[in-house]
Amino acid sequence: MESAIAAVIRSLGASLKNRGLYPTTHPLVRTPVEKCHLELAPFFADRSELALTVSDGTLVLEGVPIFQLTSSLELFMARLGAIGLPAVIFERGVSVQDIELFVRFLHETKEQGLPIPEITSRLARWGVTHIRITATEEEEKDDFTLAREIYGNALNVVVRALKDVRGGKTPDGAESDRAVREMSGMVSRNRDAMLALTLIKNFDEYTYNHSVNVSVLSLAVAETLGLPETERIGIGVAGLLHDVGKTQLALDLIRKPGTLTVEEFEEIKKHPEEGFAILGKMTHIQESTRAVVREHHMRFDRTGYPRPEPGFRMNPHSHVIAVADCYDALTTMRSYQKARTPQQALEVMRKLAGKSIDPDLVELMDRSFGVFPVGTMVRLSTMEVGVVTGTPDGGKGAPKVAILFDRSGNPLAVPQEVDLKERDPSSARPRRMILGTVNPLMHPPVSLSGILQAVPG
Ligand SMILES: [Fe+2]
Ligand SMILES: [Fe+2]
Repeated sequence: MESAIAAVIRSLGASLKNRGLYPTTHPLVRTPVEKCHLELAPFFADRSELALTVSDGTLVLEGVPIFQLTSSLELFMARLGAIGLPAVIFERGVSVQDIELFVRFLHETKEQGLPIPEITSRLARWGVTHIRITATEEEEKDDFTLAREIYGNALNVVVRALKDVRGGKTPDGAESDRAVREMSGMVSRNRDAMLALTLIKNFDEYTYNHSVNVSVLSLAVAETLGLPETERIGIGVAGLLHDVGKTQLALDLIRKPGTLTVEEFEEIKKHPEEGFAILGKMTHIQESTRAVVREHHMRFDRTGYPRPEPGFRMNPHSHVIAVADCYDALTTMRSYQKARTPQQALEVMRKLAGKSIDPDLVELMDRSFGVFPVGTMVRLSTMEVGVVTGTPDGGKGAPKVAILFDRSGNPLAVPQEVDLKERDPSSARPRRMILGTVNPLMHPPVSLSGILQAVPG
């Protein structure tokens, strides 16, 4: 089966490649199409259609991944990806002409990222009858919708866990583990979509959102560090549950704005040990996760609480939670502090580096979140104002920007996503460049959630 599948794809790829080199009627274009047609036939003996998808950069035919990529296969996959074909369905009755036209469509279509209905109507116009395009299961939802669902699910897990503890019950560790695995997967798939959610602050639900945010942020740091999966999950669970011990404190103490009295602070200081005890009763919790929850306020310079004994070796993952905790606290507005932008937060963190937090991790965060992290409001050379919605290639690529205000400062009805790589044809220079950040408080409040929904992916 696998070799038969590989043969079909190879024929398609070969025809497409030769199409670029020879006229349509040339045997090197025509023969692979006929070969593909012959190779497809046996599959239809026991099924009416055959699905070809690209999933995570791998070509998959009927669930069988094709790992041996030749240059023609790579070209084939690149064309599918560029035009925006998530899944190609070959139906029983597919003809040589259908395949020929489909290859021609792949060769001649120059637009990128076409919507599925547009591709469908073009193929129909071309006369392709037994090859159709559909969205794959995953691609029906854009990454932001998916990320929001995963985030919401993790939020529910935290709410339940804290409620259980308050009610004297032990929370289900398997739930936390599952929620973190989902978030970890989403961080790998589209880190920006997940990180953007940590910036959508909900003041009333601070404790819950904070728990999920610290988990997401620490997962992003753990991934940049290249840690193995088990360790990443352990860190993510620690992030999710790091403040679970606060449930043992009086609610008004947790919510108290401003400075605490000495006695109150002594109470607060107990929450890492309380958390350590609670996690000890839960299933599906790694030993190191427990240790990290206990150590999350020890500080990099070991001056925090609980105060470590002189020879005590801190778990290195505790420092990951500490930077995530710090970043989320700084970017959150509280009654006694205004929210900082991601850039301002990183600036504060650079000053804390080497003291309360690990300098290497601050540098890593600084580098991997990009010069303009997601959520940063920027002014462009056109004098338009926008918000950064993505930082491709781990922060090294040109940021994705959605314009919110035109050059006169009037808000746009719908945010407009722009490509900073786009050039002005007359001067060949970039049409828009980022001049710098703008203070978000100078502009009417905007909902990041709404913007990201309007400009998905
Ligand atoms: Fe804490
Ligand atoms: Fe915290």
